[in-house]
Amino acid sequence: MSERGMGEYIPGVPMPFFPASMPHAATPPSHAVPVPLPGGRGYAVHFRPLADLPPLLAGVDLAPGRCLVVTDSNVAPLYLGPVVRALGAAGWRPEARVVPAGEASKALDQLAALYDWALGLGSSPGQAIDRRTPLLALGGGVVGDLAGFAAATLLRGLPLVHLPTTVIAQVDSAVGGKTGINHAAGKNLIGAFHQPRLVLADPATLATLPEREYRSGLAEVVKHALLEGEDAVARLERDLDRVLAREPEAVAATIRRAVAFKAGVVAEDERETGRRAVLNLGHTFAHAVERAEGYGRFTHGEAVALGLRAALHLSASVRAGRAWTAPALPEPFARADRLVARLPLPYPLVASGDALLAAMDTDKKRAGAHNRFVVLDDLGRPRVTDAVPSGTVEAAWAYARQGSVVQGPAGQ
Ligand SMILES: NC(=O)c1ccc[n+]([C@@H]2O[C@H](COP(=O)([O-])OP(=O)(O)OC[C@H]3O[C@@H](n4cnc5c(N)ncnc54)[C@H](O)[C@@H]3O)[C@@H](O)[C@H]2O)c1
Repeated sequence: MSERGMGEYIPGVPMPFFPASMPHAATPPSHAVPVPLPGGRGYAVHFRPLADLPPLLAGVDLAPGRCLVVTDSNVAPLYLGPVVRALGAAGWRPEARVVPAGEASKALDQLAALYDWALGLGSSPGQAIDRRTPLLALGGGVVGDLAGFAAATLLRGLPLVHLPTTVIAQVDSAVGGKTGINHAAGKNLIGAFHQPRLVLADPATLATLPEREYRSGLAEVVKHALLEGEDAVARLERDLDRVLAREPEAVAATIRRAVAFKAGVVAEDERETGRRAVLNLGHTFAHAVERAEGYGRFTHGEAVALGLRAALHLSASVRAGRAWTAPALPEPFARADRLVARLPLPYPLVASGDALLAAMDTDKKRAGAHNRFVVLDDLGRPRVTDAVPSGTVEAAWAYARQGSVVQGPAGQ
């Protein structure tokens, strides 16, 4: 845990971000990453084949019996069979539920159907679920958030096990305990913190991800490196081409490092009362991209990549005390921007500056009077601020738009 108390965190005040004592520094490649939390609620993220699930369940005191598996319609044909077979062979009695793939499943109707299913499994002893019945979320962030919220609320809390199968889920959504669904009023507006008992991230599952989904997830990996510091950035600069080419060793090492980084942040600030907010680097801009361009045009990860470029420009402006106008960013922002720019985008950003600013206003209304931005003072030195010099946000948008040229095929 951090030597600094969370209570010392003051938005807008720079602080050393990632003490050397955090788990990422010491985690050897083949080991699980711990997520240390108080009250015996800590857990580990394992990087092993899905077939290793039963002994890992036993290792967290989950004894064979009824268990629930929630997955989606893309993941089920690929990985549900092996998971169910491994569980059955170890004496578990898995019940599976498949939701339609896609963000639309993070909704009240799918949640209600999950409740009906789980609570309708039977009323006799051994048939009905009880508070020891684990719920396993097999899939990407959509399944993790939906099934995680069901686990948080069914019988006031079932043991949750994440089996993340996308880059975003492995490096981000399966770690940290945020669960939830969307509402017509906005994304992720209904939810709960519910930490998993166990995370099993099988790197081999990433091999079947469609190209665009795979690359999108890497935006969060780059974001983690920028937040972590120079060493992480240097490694990613070195390894990114191999990661983009899906070389297994490079992918596994990169994912593990990003997970260790997130685990360290979560361990310091489980409920996002302070430091965890820096994980939103680029996200004030990214949410506006998604809103102004129309949800679904860019994936979330692509919007994050654009948002990171805008956030780096804003960081340069904030450091200069005025809107940065030179075509090239100063260091270290130029270096960071070159790394982000290696993630291909399928389309350029077309929304007008006015539309993007208006989309940010929606966020502003939700958060209070001001937009909050995460800016970098340096690599590994983020801070949250709502005081940016006038004209700097407009300049950041102009920079991101002009830089959003399409560098390669959209994939898929
Ligand atoms: N809880 C958190 O802390 C947190 C953090 C980040 C993102 N999220 C949420 O995560 C969601 C995005 O996650 P995502 O990008 O994983 O989306 P997703 O779950 O929709 O998965 C993306 C697509 O890939 C498919 N897929 C998943 N695994 C596959 C595999 N191994 N092979 C082939 N296809 C596969 C899915 O069916 C889907 O079509 C958003 O709803 C976002 O709000 C939550």
